[in-house]
Amino acid sequence: MNKEIEDVVISIGGSILLPEDEDTSRLTELADMLKENIAKKNLYLVVGGGRIARQYIYWGRNLGADEATLDHLGIETSRLNARLLKIALGKECYPVPAKDFDEAISAGNHYPIVVMGGTHPGHTTDAVAAMLAERLGTKRLINATSVDGVYTSDPKKDEGAKRLEELSYDELIEIVSKSETGAGPNVVFDPLAARIIKRADINTYVLHGTDLGSLESAIRDEDFEGSRITG
Ligand code: UTP
Repeated sequence: MNKEIEDVVISIGGSILLPEDEDTSRLTELADMLKENIAKKNLYLVVGGGRIARQYIYWGRNLGADEATLDHLGIETSRLNARLLKIALGKECYPVPAKDFDEAISAGNHYPIVVMGGTHPGHTTDAVAAMLAERLGTKRLINATSVDGVYTSDPKKDEGAKRLEELSYDELIEIVSKSETGAGPNVVFDPLAARIIKRADINTYVLHGTDLGSLESAIRDEDFEGSRITG
């Protein structure tokens, strides 16, 4: 493998790809920016299920499905979103969402961009991204999500919540471990992902995924608007 090429793993929230109004221009702008940043980088994009996953999980739960079955609905929708992002990325991206880490890693030997969605029940695509970063041995993970960083509490519910520009792995674990369990939770970073980045010492940047300027800066390891989680 060419060691000149740096691996960057990005967890992309499904809600970032497709806004409420069904407009695909955001997807195109994101894909164009990503393609401009592959000269010295391999990008591994782990895509979330967003509101489509939440809608399916809601319907499934109403029909009486168990949590693991609901997780599978989330996994399938994240793969559907990954497929859509691949269409926007074109021929520089591996043709299909990788189903597991082995496939993603071998795809990265042939393509500068690889997309994948979920893998197994019990966690979110943040955890998939953290595990993929661990498998790749990369020391940087970006979480492009629907908030502009990690807050002391949920900023959508608590007006007094403060954004933390720098925090440790343990501080992140403390913040996210208060979140709910079950399919489709709303949390800035999956608690399992938080434990994986700690054990593998993966510096993680959390930023608003619609802020393409910040996302591009984080990919280039330059200053960005958001939170940095380090040891
Ligand atoms: P997401 O990764 O989309 O979660 O997975 P999210 O935090 O809602 O992400 P956004 O909104 O896209 O940023 C959605 C659901 O799919 C199941 C879980 O139930 C998760 O909550 N899932 C996903 C799995 O069970 N395993 C996976 O590997 C991925």
